[in-house]
Formats: sequence, structure tokens, C-alpha cells
Amino acid sequence: MIAGKNIILGITGGIAAYKSASLVRLLVKAGAQVQVIMTPNAREFIAPLTLSTLSGKPVITEFFTANTGQWNSHVDLGLWADAMVVAPATASTIAKMAHGVADNMLVTTYLSAKAPVFVAPAMDLDMFKHPTTQHNLDLLRSYGNHIIEPAAGELASHLIGKGRMEEPENIFKVLEGFFSDTLDLKGKKVLITAGPTYEKIDPVRFIGNFSSGKQGFALAQECADRGAEVTLITGPVSLSIDNSHVNRVDVMSADEMYDAVMEHFPLQDAGIMCAAVADYKVEHQLNSKIKREKGEAPVLTLVKNRDIARAAGEKKREGQVLVGFALETDNEDAHAHEKLLKKNLDFIVLNSLNDPGAGFQCATNKVKIIERDGSETVYPCKDKRMVAKDIVDVLVNKYLKS
Ligand code: C5P
Repeated sequence: MIAGKNIILGITGGIAAYKSASLVRLLVKAGAQVQVIMTPNAREFIAPLTLSTLSGKPVITEFFTANTGQWNSHVDLGLWADAMVVAPATASTIAKMAHGVADNMLVTTYLSAKAPVFVAPAMDLDMFKHPTTQHNLDLLRSYGNHIIEPAAGELASHLIGKGRMEEPENIFKVLEGFFSDTLDLKGKKVLITAGPTYEKIDPVRFIGNFSSGKQGFALAQECADRGAEVTLITGPVSLSIDNSHVNRVDVMSADEMYDAVMEHFPLQDAGIMCAAVADYKVEHQLNSKIKREKGEAPVLTLVKNRDIARAAGEKKREGQVLVGFALETDNEDAHAHEKLLKKNLDFIVLNSLNDPGAGFQCATNKVKIIERDGSETVYPCKDKRMVAKDIVDVLVNKYLKS
């Protein structure tokens, strides 16, 4: 519930700043206390008076209030907040936040804030696409901040592309979802597979894939935040998760993942098979390194790995729910539907490599959920944590109702 929450709204110098007035209005109407902090540039785009009138609090821009000499404590503000939202967030502020350049009240408060931080970028399409901006957004994500992806459409420059700040109503919905204090997975056990598997060739080489594990880890975080006891069975990834409700089981190969899933799945209420399991392993792993000999290159004989999701689907008991993923390049819907039935899944999450911003390594994903009755829900491209929320919403609201 947003009512009673203390929210810092950071506004930076982009044309979308005018939309922040609506966000203040929505938050205040829902019963939140809103403290607006503006960067000096933001004041050129929207009058502080508008925002202080709507929020009922003087807007803060400077470290000191000039006429009274009063110190605006970024530390106190950081501790006061239940959430901080930066909307719009310009490329410049995103860069400063990512690198700790605390040369204004907004970034200084960000560095002091203990509460979750939401960042709604707004800029021209090329600035948004630029590797520097994307890298800075990745850094912010890696520090646990929530990025509210910008929408695509006509920009202030009249160019068309991605970079338009998400509408205030949708930013409000993200916050509302975050504060919904329904622990709707309390008492439930959820198993999640994540990441790639590595199939050893010899002591130094393996067959693997580009899966980063980000979507599986986002699902684990989401389920744990909603009260579930999570068993996260993950292949080799460079991610960490710090949550006492997540039991992380690290595995290397598909065979190890198979054994771990078979051990844990019978105790679960739901399983989400998000791992990109290697389809094949080498028939005979070598104990010593293959040498680069002159002459013929070695030939590796591959054999099929067992299908973990399918094995779980065969063992699924009454009341258990099983969710799978499909990553397709062609005939997406037909293949996904086939897998749904073959693996005895309850629903399948289709992500396509044809969609920009979806799939391996990306911080974002664009998915379609296909259910056994043929119904389909298509979602826009979102941060993987928000995609996790959509998937868990379907799991809870349609399949795990007790
Ligand atoms: O058959 P395909 O690999 O496309 O199916 C993808 C789904 O099956 C994903 O949910 C994936 O985690 C799961 N899977 C599995 N074990 C395998 C192959 C895929 O659990 N060996």
C-alpha cells in the first residue's frame, strides 16, 4: 500500500519533467508523503512552485536554503524515505548515480538512501542506446536499483524510438506493485532453475551457452519477496543473491542440475524451469587436456542430455504447478505450445531472439505467456525483475490459489 509511505521524487532536467507533476498528484492522492528534490537544471523545465503546491512541501534543490541558512540534510532525507523515484532520469544523472558523483542534492541523497530506488530514464533514442548509458544502467541494476524502462514513441526531438519516460500512471503502478504488502506466496515452496549448464569436454574446456541467469535470479528474488521459500538451482553465473528465503544450490552440468531438481521438486508447490540447459554433452569426457596435434582435428561425439523439465512434468503431482521457458527463433508459438504439452507444463514463457531487448545477457526481456487452454498474454519489453513480477502474478493468481 502506498498510503503512509514516504517517497522522495527526484526530478532532473529533461522535458519529461512536466509529467512529474502528475506523478506527485497520483502519489499524494494515494496517501503518500512526497518530498520533491530537483536538480538545478530541472527547475528550467517545471516551476518548483507547481511541485511544492502539489506535494505540500517545499521543493529542495540546494544543500542550504539560501534565505534561512537551513541545512537540507541528505542523510536525514535518505533515512526518511521508504522509496526514492528518479523521474525523469537524464543520461547525466544516471551517470552520476552510477559513479557516485555527488555534486547535487539529488545524487547526494541517492547515495544516502537506504530505501529501494526506482529510476525512470528519459532521453533521446541515441543517448539511451549509447553503450555508456546502457553500461551505467547496468551498473545501477547491479546495485539493486529498479529501472523503469522508457517507452518507445515520438520523442521531444520528433525522432521516433525508445527513450520516452514511462507514463506517470505506469510509474505509479510499479510503486503500487512494489508496496503491495500481500505476501501471496507465504507458506509456498518454489523451485527455480537458472543460468546455463557447462558440459565438460576435458579439464579446461566445456560446451556452454550465453545465459546470464538474470531472469532466473529475478524470479527467485520476486518469489522470496512475496513470502515463498525458494530453492534456486543455478548453473555457473556471476550473480549473487542475498536473501535468507533463497536456498541456492550451485551445479555445473545438466546431469547435476537434473539430480538437484529430482531431489527437490517433490517437496515444492511450484517449479519454474528457467535454466538454459545444454541439449548435448560429450559422450566421453577426457581426464587430460586435448592437445593441439598436427593433422586431423579431434571429433567430439555428443549425446543428448536428459530433459529436466520433462522429467519434472512426468513426476508432477496433483496441485503442483510447473512453468517452463521457450527461447525460439522461428515458428515460435507452435514450438512453445508443443513444449507446453510435451513437458506437461501449466504455462510456458516464450521469449524470442527476434525481439530486440529480449533474451540472453540483456537486462530486459519481452515475453508472451501461453497457457494450456491456448490463451496468450503479450507483455511489453521490461526490466527482468518486472518480467518476473508478471510471471509470478500469473502463477499466483491463476495456478496457486489455495
Ligand atoms: O526443449 P527446450 O530446451 O526448448 O525447452 C526449454 C524449457 O525446458 C525450459 O524451461 C528449460 O529450462 C527446460 N529444459 C530442461 N532440461 C533440458 C532442456 C530444457 O529443463 N535438458
